[in-house]
Amino acid sequence: MSFLLICAVLASCIPLSFSFMLDGQPENIQEIANELGKLQSEVAALKEMIQELQETCPSCAVSTKQSSPAFMASLSMFVTCNVDAPLVFDREQLDTRQAYDTRHGLFRAPVNGTYMFTATLAAQPNQGFHVKFVRNSLSDEIGYIFSDNGHSGWNERSTTIVVKLDAGDDVWLACSMPSNITGGNSGMEHDYHSHFSGFLIDAF
Ligand SMILES: *[C@@H]1O[C@H](CO)[C@@H](O)[C@H](O)[C@H]1NC(C)=O
Ligand SMILES: *[C@@H]1O[C@H](CO)[C@@H](O)[C@H](O)[C@H]1NC(C)=O
Repeated sequence: MSFLLICAVLASCIPLSFSFMLDGQPENIQEIANELGKLQSEVAALKEMIQELQETCPSCAVSTKQSSPAFMASLSMFVTCNVDAPLVFDREQLDTRQAYDTRHGLFRAPVNGTYMFTATLAAQPNQGFHVKFVRNSLSDEIGYIFSDNGHSGWNERSTTIVVKLDAGDDVWLACSMPSNITGGNSGMEHDYHSHFSGFLIDAF
């Protein structure tokens, strides 16, 4: 009985109090509408800022527009290389930012940052190579890989360097002594005798 009574009271009160709110305090509704309007324009401004960040800050975590620079290229054929000549890895396996040039063997840093580069080179029996990593000029030597020619079997060598680069800096491999380096174009594992790769570790 009392339950029914409460229900009856509530039923008559709820619409009353609701209409009281609407009718009695219209300024509150107006305030809420104003706040909502402000929030909507703030959210719109934030969305715009995030979109701008994604477009202008390629290496930022929020970026969806561009992937981080990374490349890998290999030698498709046996190469004889003279002193100071660039070693041109002519077959590109990967180049997320079109930063490696298969025509000249150069990687051009798209953003300021710390980069890692790796070279793996192979020599046939009794052949060898002396190759340096250089930045922007042949005299700025930032890495070195070699294999002398006194060996009866095949040789494969690898090295890795980590360097700071400014956007626009070029990195390539150049022979520091006359060298013979093996490549391949068989569609099989021999295509990976010699390759050059690199990627951005961290942008700043
Ligand atoms: C890149 O670094 C150079 C100097 O190291 C600096 O002058 C330049 O402003 C930097 N660029 C960006 C986009 O941070
Ligand atoms: C490179 O190969 C040529 C021709 O086979 C040979 O005369 C030369 O000694 C080799 N040089 C090296 C460093 O392997």
